[in-house]
Amino acid sequence: MEFVRLDGAAVTLVFALEAGGTADCVYLGARLPEGEDLAMIAAASARRRHESQPDVPPAPGLLPERKAGWGGTPAMRLIDCENPLAGEVATDFRVRQWDASERELWIDWEDERLGIAINLWWRIRSGDVVCVTCDIVNGGKNNFRLADQPSLVLPIPRRFTGLTSYAGRWAGEMRETCQPVAPNGFARTSAAGKPGFGGGNWLVLDDPATGEVLGTHLAWSGDYSTRIDCDTQGQYDGRAVLQMALGGGANGISLLAGTDLAGAEAVLALAPDRSALAQAFHTYLRSEVLPSRAAWGPRKVHLNSWEALAFDLSEDKLIALAEQAATLGIERFVLDDGWFGGRRDDRTSLGDWFVSADVFPNDLGPLIARVHELGMDFGLWVEPEMVSPDSDLYRAHPDWCLHTPGHDRPTMRGQLALDMARPEVRDYLFGCLDALLRDHAIAYLKWDHNRDLFPSAPGQTEGFYALLDKLRAAHPHVAIESCSSGGGRIDFGVLARVHRVWPSDNNDAIERLRIMRAWSQFLPLEVLGSHVGPSPNPITGRRLAMDFRAKVAVFGHMGVEADPARMTDKERACLAAHIALYKQWRGVLHAGDLHHLVHPDEGVSAMMVTHGDKALALAAQTAFSPVFDAAPVRLAGLEPDARYRVTLPEPWPPRAKHYLADPDRWREGLVLSGTALMTHGLALPLTHPETAWLIALEKIA
Ligand code: GLA
Repeated sequence: MEFVRLDGAAVTLVFALEAGGTADCVYLGARLPEGEDLAMIAAASARRRHESQPDVPPAPGLLPERKAGWGGTPAMRLIDCENPLAGEVATDFRVRQWDASERELWIDWEDERLGIAINLWWRIRSGDVVCVTCDIVNGGKNNFRLADQPSLVLPIPRRFTGLTSYAGRWAGEMRETCQPVAPNGFARTSAAGKPGFGGGNWLVLDDPATGEVLGTHLAWSGDYSTRIDCDTQGQYDGRAVLQMALGGGANGISLLAGTDLAGAEAVLALAPDRSALAQAFHTYLRSEVLPSRAAWGPRKVHLNSWEALAFDLSEDKLIALAEQAATLGIERFVLDDGWFGGRRDDRTSLGDWFVSADVFPNDLGPLIARVHELGMDFGLWVEPEMVSPDSDLYRAHPDWCLHTPGHDRPTMRGQLALDMARPEVRDYLFGCLDALLRDHAIAYLKWDHNRDLFPSAPGQTEGFYALLDKLRAAHPHVAIESCSSGGGRIDFGVLARVHRVWPSDNNDAIERLRIMRAWSQFLPLEVLGSHVGPSPNPITGRRLAMDFRAKVAVFGHMGVEADPARMTDKERACLAAHIALYKQWRGVLHAGDLHHLVHPDEGVSAMMVTHGDKALALAAQTAFSPVFDAAPVRLAGLEPDARYRVTLPEPWPPRAKHYLADPDRWREGLVLSGTALMTHGLALPLTHPETAWLIALEKIA
């Protein structure tokens, strides 16, 4: 047995490797001192077998198999295509060789009899985020079907006994659900051909004794299969095993003789608390995943036409909307659905990516010119991977959609999905999108995806990536958003190719507080579109004051998705003031460290971002507080000994402001130490629902 350690800034991983045998991760935790005897770590966790175990107790290791008595789910579940009735193939993978540097370990395994090799690669990246990929090479003579394609196998360190996963649905993404890891473990798959709203591609494990957390994610925009098998009967070594894999669904994944499968990256990060975990993922995304992040300018304030006009489009109406938008300080005008082919409702014309002459007799030129004149740039909605049965594209190529020959073609939202594995489909779509971008000054695409992929869609995600990559190479200056009926396709795989995501169709600010908090556990605020919607909200029906809607929207990539003409003068002024605040603070919000604040009142949601000498916090009361005087909001992430000037940026929440003891003091600013702010906090009027405060901090030199 040999030992290898990988060290990040604050983390160490220790692997035990045996040529001709197995590999295991025997330590994952705080960075170990130099000179630590790694064999002693393994010795400290070794025990003798007990009565009801195989004679050599099977440790799951990094590639669990059935061969020695492991009873959980094997990582490589293969069916031999020549002999499918024989069931799963017995595997015997053994470590052939490995290679390691300070931050990387590469392990090569082989099952000699099957001729299949596995290359496993663990790397520590920025933010101490650990990336794991697994490539599979079939050098043998047989064709196989693989149930799921493994990315990460991690025997979970025993201290992590709590699990947070994220259930969700359309307009209700990322609902945190907490449970103990044992005895039931966890299993979730997606079957929509995309991660969907189920959230099983994001997990946070925690140590309840210390609050330490371990976050994991599969960076893949197709189906996933996530599971945690627990050793409830003590058959192995007591550790539960986490597996994150590309989901094979009902058909599995083909592993043909002479081919290889490149794996998707799984990521994991260890942190002392949830805010530090968020910061680790944000650091990694900002420095290594998001395309050319360092070159991004300020995230422009959007106005999106969808909740203002829906399909009721005309050049005049859009120009009027753009003029209204400009008076608010909007910087980008986004024309949503309804601009192409015969698309006057959501049952038709997907695939016909040509400007509709009915709606725009003069093409998009005059609208875009007016938008530019008003000082904004122009964005456009597309849903390239879809086709409406009622479209010229479908009439010309009825075989281009995902379907089973001879079967019905069931639709969803009246639409079918194109088979993105077909090069001619990708070529057609590239031709349409490339022409649109060449012929019009389009700065931004909202790339939507509103149907689940069925009956089955092998190669779909690879095809989507190929199209997106080709388009980005041809138009490197166009920013792109990943939307999928809201948050149905959000993952680090798509985030390597786009500039923001649409976290939810739900713009109700109370719902958004929860949704943004959950997404920001993994994603930085600058990629999370955050729009002020209309009141009443079209999805929830709830009425919320503009002050509240606008303050909540500041903490993200801000936009407006409502018709300013239908707002009162007061509402417009309030919105414009918050857009100005957003512009003033986006440099902090989009580059700093995010802290999720904890408040004793369940109705209060609070977070803050610190960056250099500045910080901005949001504290929002959603319920009617059980007590009149809400507990102080305690801040985080400040230097204990530094002194900060604290102000409450105006406008203030209309009802609550009357309870401020000394408004002028808050205008001048209170000066307090980091320790006082983090320990004692600020008692703000937070009694009434829909009350939100922004808190600005500036360190005094
Ligand atoms: C999806 C998106 C919405 C909007 C509509 C347009 O539902 O999530 O934001 O673009 O499509 O049809």
